[in-house]
Amino acid sequence: MRVSRNFVSILTFSVFLTAAFETTVSAGRYKDFKVIKTKILGVHESSVLSQLAFKSGLDFWSLPRNGKNAILLCEPQQAEEIFKELTRLELRPEILTEDVSREIAEERFKIDQINSAKLKVANWENFMTLDEINQYMDEVVANYSNIVSELEIGTTTEGRATRVLHISTGPGKPAIFINGAIHAREWIGPPVAMYAINQLTEFYDQNSAILNSVDFYIAPVVNPDGYVFSWEQDRFWRKTRSLNDLNCLGVDANRNFDWQWAPDNDMCSLVYPGTAPASEPEIQGLQSFLQEHTEITFYVDLHSFGQSMIFPWASSNEQSPMYPELMRVGNEAANALRTVRGTNYTVHSVTNGGTNFLYGVSVDWAYGVLGIPLTYAIELPGGGSGGFDIPPEEILPVATETWEALKVFAQNAQPTTTRLQWFK
Ligand SMILES: *[C@@H]1O[C@H](CO)[C@@H](O)[C@H](O)[C@H]1NC(C)=O
Ligand SMILES: *[C@@H]1O[C@H](CO)[C@@H](O)[C@H](O)[C@H]1NC(C)=O
Repeated sequence: MRVSRNFVSILTFSVFLTAAFETTVSAGRYKDFKVIKTKILGVHESSVLSQLAFKSGLDFWSLPRNGKNAILLCEPQQAEEIFKELTRLELRPEILTEDVSREIAEERFKIDQINSAKLKVANWENFMTLDEINQYMDEVVANYSNIVSELEIGTTTEGRATRVLHISTGPGKPAIFINGAIHAREWIGPPVAMYAINQLTEFYDQNSAILNSVDFYIAPVVNPDGYVFSWEQDRFWRKTRSLNDLNCLGVDANRNFDWQWAPDNDMCSLVYPGTAPASEPEIQGLQSFLQEHTEITFYVDLHSFGQSMIFPWASSNEQSPMYPELMRVGNEAANALRTVRGTNYTVHSVTNGGTNFLYGVSVDWAYGVLGIPLTYAIELPGGGSGGFDIPPEEILPVATETWEALKVFAQNAQPTTTRLQWFK
């Protein structure tokens, strides 16, 4: 009976796929788009490829970075030419996915299937919509009001609140700030952030020691407009939804911070940095929040994908004064993460010795402007097709292992007096 059951499920799936191509904007717009992966790049190769990226406006899912494979999405008409160019540059391209719309439809099929059998809102069995995340946060605030309070970072272009939970057993402690989904399509960030909230509340007994020495500020979704758009319209939406150019909405929020901000006239670019530093209400709000809360001495920005813990500088190749400490704490966190199920992370500066510099990014701003001594971006794992489509059954394992790293981070939050001290 097993065979025929599988057959029925395959049949259902194909029918769904066909329907998805015709009706879902999100899947249909990526019909026959390809995902291409290069070999592991060296310093020079990553630099050459990033220049090519600027020319053609390619969508890099994994940036050209020294010591890493680059992964990029390309339109069907461009694919052959790009593949040839990458071959000519001896970057050994490989096609990971022939038709991205299939992956999107498959992902949504899985999410819907799990949802139809789901009993409880947040159980880390599935990705969550913004409404589901908000509902979970409401419940946490109501159930654990002795240690949890809610603050708002600001209001987005489309009028949504950016919410942050403050988890604290009393004043006078340093704090760690964790945010997810500054890039809308990076869906694994929010459940990782929410798992930390869950551990500190429902599983308070197991984590009370950590709350004796440090507070947490956790904002699962800091680009809620983009996040909603990535669910409802375009799975690979990365930017905010601000209205600079009505043909090309949005700004890359992680190029919009007021550190070494670099102007760019191409509003359609996926990494368009905005009209000015902190032009985005989301980033303006986040900057003010971090500035005002001087007890925050540790900043973590959750991204995907790449399995790396990366830290300043992104905008230069100089070793920052905190480099040895950033390496030490990063390695300790990566080792703790690895003990759960062997997942390997690399630990290095954002540039990793390469010359593909990034300007206006969160970790550089928090470190360089506020003097928050320890700031990291975590590139969480990606999906089986080399993309953002990490399968729902991986959410809990990823959240569980990452929590071990976040605990190491929190334990290393320095006293509040350390802000700016490293400059001297
Ligand atoms: C909050 O408490 C209610 C009632 O006990 C419970 O059903 C719900 O699961 C709790 N939610 C969270 C997120 O702890
Ligand atoms: C992690 O790296 C070690 C050492 O290189 C390797 O033996 C191991 O297989 C890797 N683990 C996974 C899950 O890839």
